[in-house]
Order: sequence, then C-alpha cells, then structure tokens
Amino acid sequence: MILVTGGAGFIGANFVLDWLAQVGEPVVNLDRLTYAGNLGNLAAVKDDRRHQFVRGDIGDRGLVANLLETHRPRAIINFAAETHVDRSIHGPAAFIETNVVGTFALLDVARTHFAALPPIERAQFRFLHVSTDEVFGSLGPDEAGFSETTAYAPNSPYSASKAAADHLVRAYHHTYDLPVLTTNCSNNYGPRQFPEKLIPLMFHNAVAGKPLPVYGDGGNVRDWLFVGDHCAAIRVVLERGRVGETYNVGGSAERTNLEVVETLCRILGEQKPGRDYRKQITFVKDRPGHDRRYAIDATKIGRELGWAPRETFDSGLAATVRWYLENSAWLAAVTSGEYHKWVSLNYAAGAVA
Ligand code: NAD
Ligand code: DAU
Repeated sequence: MILVTGGAGFIGANFVLDWLAQVGEPVVNLDRLTYAGNLGNLAAVKDDRRHQFVRGDIGDRGLVANLLETHRPRAIINFAAETHVDRSIHGPAAFIETNVVGTFALLDVARTHFAALPPIERAQFRFLHVSTDEVFGSLGPDEAGFSETTAYAPNSPYSASKAAADHLVRAYHHTYDLPVLTTNCSNNYGPRQFPEKLIPLMFHNAVAGKPLPVYGDGGNVRDWLFVGDHCAAIRVVLERGRVGETYNVGGSAERTNLEVVETLCRILGEQKPGRDYRKQITFVKDRPGHDRRYAIDATKIGRELGWAPRETFDSGLAATVRWYLENSAWLAAVTSGEYHKWVSLNYAAGAVA
C-alpha cells in the first residue's frame, strides 16, 4: 500500500481517485483538513475499503511513525502543503510551519522507519515529494523553460517554503540515502480545485455575475496542466523514476492570464449560454512580487519515462467547466463561511486598478 499526505486537497484527492481506479493498491490518506482539504473530494471512495482516511498533521511525528509501523507502505507521496501564493503574502507563518517544518518532520520519521526496514522492503521504499515550478523564480519573455538544472530563485513566501522543503528532500537522500523522488510541476487546473486559484475563482465569479479580477495587466504567463495528467506523471515517476532525481512536469500550454480568462469565458458561454461573460473582466491591483512568467521544459520526463500530457488546454478546460457546472453543490459547500472572509481580505474595496 501507499501513504498519501494532503489527499483531501485538489491534486491529492484527484490522485487518490485516479490511483484507486488505475492501480487499485490500498491508500492511507493523511490530511489535516485545513480550509483547502475537503472530504467531499473523496465522496466517491467513502465506502471503498482500499481507502483509509486519517485526519492529522504531517508534522505529528508520533502519528506518522505509528502509521508507517502499522501499514508499512511501500511509498510516501507528499502532497500536503499550504499552496496559495496570495495567502502566503498575507500570512507566511503557516507556510513555514507545514511546508518546511512539516516536511522536515515527515522526512525525519520516514528516515528512521526506512533505516529499520528489512532489505527487500528497503529496496522498494520511495519518498515522492510533490513540488512546484515556482521554486525556479520568474522567466523573461524569451527565456527557455525551467529544466531540472535551473537554479532555484523563489520569490514568494510560498515558493521559498517549497524550495526549502525540496532542499531538505535532496539532503535526506545525499546524507541518509533516503530513496527520494521530487516532481516540480506547473499550474494545475481541473475538478475539485478550491476557488481561490485563478480558474475556479473565475468560474465561480462568472456564473455568479461578479467581476473577474485579473491582476495587473493580465500579461503574466503560466504553463497550464490538467490535473489528471499530473497524476499520471506522479505514477510513472513513482514506478520508474531514478532515485534521487527530480522531474519537471508541465503542459507545454503557456497562456497569459487574460488569455486564460477569455478562453474560460468562451467555453462557459458555449456550455451555459445567455451572457457575454467577458464583460465581467476587471483589472485589479497586482499581486506584490508577482512572477511574470513560468514555463516548464518537460523533456526529461518524456525521454526517460515516456510521459506526455494527454489533454490540450482547450479540452482540459472544457472538461473542467463541465465538472464545475455539474457539481454546483460542491462549489456552494466550499464557498460558504470562511471563504467570504478570504475574498474580502484579498479583494478589498479599493483594489481595483
Ligand atoms: P491544496 O491546497 O488544494 O491541498 C493541500 C492539502 O494539504 C489539503 O487537503 C490540506 O488539508 C492538506 N494539508 C495542509 N497542511 C497539512 C498538514 N500540515 N498536514 C497534513 N495535511 C495538510 O493543494 P494542491 O493544489 O492540491 O497542491 C498539492 C501539492 O502540489 C502541494 O504540495 C503543492 O505545492 C503542489 N503543487 C500544486 C500545483 C497547483 O497548481 N495546484 C502545482 C505544482 C505543485
Ligand atoms: O506554478 C505552480 C503553482 O501554481 C503552484 O505551486 C501553486 O500552489 C498554485 O497556487 C499556482 O500558483 P499561481 O500563483 O500561479 O496560481 P494562482 O491560481 O493563484 O494564479 C494564477 C495566475 O493568475 C497568477 O499570475 C495570478 C493570477 N490571478 C490569480 C487570482 C487568484 C489573477 O489575475 N487574479 C486572481 O484573482
């Protein structure tokens, strides 16, 4: 079996559902259920005996040691993190706590566990750390995409905390021989993404007839990947990735934010006609320290492991819009209560550019 952390969040939950459907091996899912974690994401496997949910923190050494001893997973896949850049600007401490201190505790407990395993289990064991392209900083308009040898240059408290975690993962391999793998992925989108991130936030505002708040001039570029393609990449890295290596994962789908929002408006117009959603686009005050451009060079994972994305940006976005339209109850549940506090903090009156 495998131990997944952060498996009630966006990518983690998609991974667990995908894993049980494609591989079928049992999963223990450790998640603290922060505002971003949602058991509704796992409703489809609620009664599936192959899935065991445990509410807890990756920084709880006793709990993690107990889970490792009880279940003896062949792999730990670490998705658990604080993930929203804007929140890291308003409150960085939680990012240091989970992404740095929490990952450190998880690594340390894994190291002790690994050291005591019998040889056959030791040979199979993997610690796969899920990271981001944001650790590489920002690209100029004509620069080549980030490769695995690009120097780290994180610019936000979020990316700095992920970079710190990546360095710890690397150090635990070099110093203690922990069999680690790291993936650095570009921007994901798809079903079950919390509507603080660009695409679900724009969907939510569009159908509610609210402004679509594009930061700055809308010219910042991201490289978009459908979440199912990210899950497939993690599966191949886990099965065939070389221990100690890092793999960059991206969609080869660079778009400016304005292009993303306009495409979303067009697709939404096709699936839920009756309004020109583009008219709701509003330019608002920019994010402080906003990275201008990210792009991934995914040559290594393609060449070594044969991975390539299946969805194009248009096909993935159409599937995503369909999912959100068909799952309005999910969206309503996650946008009640605390969500309003976040929206009024980040999009305060006067933020319009
Ligand atoms: P998310 O915010 O949707 O989910 C994070 C999950 O981690 C939540 O379920 C939360 O409850 C849980 N969690 C937070 N702190 C925890 C702790 N201390 N202990 C246990 N669980 C905890 O995030 P996501 O978008 O699904 O991202 C998952 C991982 O992928 C993160 O490590 C992130 O850095 C990385 N990543 C995300 C993207 C993206 O575009 N979303 C791209 C590249 C990499
Ligand atoms: O690149 C991978 C990263 O992608 C992940 O590591 C992060 O966890 C994930 O949050 C994401 O970071 P971004 O900051 O790129 O994603 P976000 O969805 O917050 O924003 C995407 C772009 O859209 C960014 O340039 C900021 C802009 N934006 C975002 C929001 C929420 C807007 O213009 N308006 C908005 O309201």
